[in-house]
Amino acid sequence: MRDVETTRAVIGIDYSPHMLDKCREIWRSYPKKLVLLLDDFEKLQKLEKVLRREHGPAVFICLSNTLGNLPSERRKKAVAKIGTVARPGDLVIFALYKRVAGRKQYTEEIKYYKKYYRTLETVVKAIYGIHATYKYDETGHDILVGTNEEPIFISHRWAKGEIAALFSSTCLRLEDILEGDYTFFSIGKKF
Ligand SMILES: C[S@@+](CC[C@H](N)C(=O)[O-])C[C@H]1O[C@@H](n2cnc3c(N)ncnc32)[C@H](O)[C@@H]1O
Repeated sequence: MRDVETTRAVIGIDYSPHMLDKCREIWRSYPKKLVLLLDDFEKLQKLEKVLRREHGPAVFICLSNTLGNLPSERRKKAVAKIGTVARPGDLVIFALYKRVAGRKQYTEEIKYYKKYYRTLETVVKAIYGIHATYKYDETGHDILVGTNEEPIFISHRWAKGEIAALFSSTCLRLEDILEGDYTFFSIGKKF
């Protein structure tokens, strides 16, 4: 935590200009330097250039289960990409939603976050002209929202062993997994 407080700058990445504007708004009350990049975190082209000019250690932070919003075949690739951009000693922290109590939990979660999921319903209606369908895929352990044919939203639920596998073929070493009620915080280091 002390390292985070002494950080010189924070770099935020999103491919949505709207989300970067939101971040800029919130950041006004915070004294650190902020660099926002309209970049694809599966490619990290702009970040790579910015980091070439920066010295000292970096911490790569990915919150709100963002990695779990990717289809399974792209999750490991995205982590591997972060591993290639990071320099030895750099840390990565991923917040990943836990796979907890089976299907019932997800049904309740969808009810609880109704307002949030309603935004997705609006998107499905606008694109496909139909009501959104909700599914919990028990094989992939994903909440899927979209149409019967095509999900437009994926929220994966993670098991601990799976997180270890996520790191295993990258140049990031998994150092620790901190377990909260609903979230795993996985901490890795570039070697
Ligand atoms: C779950 S939200 C997280 C929002 C916020 N950054 C946070 O940590 O609370 C996921 C964000 O990732 C962005 N996103 C999804 N895929 C992306 C990609 N390939 N490259 C860059 N941003 C992406 C979305 O636009 C969305 O704002």
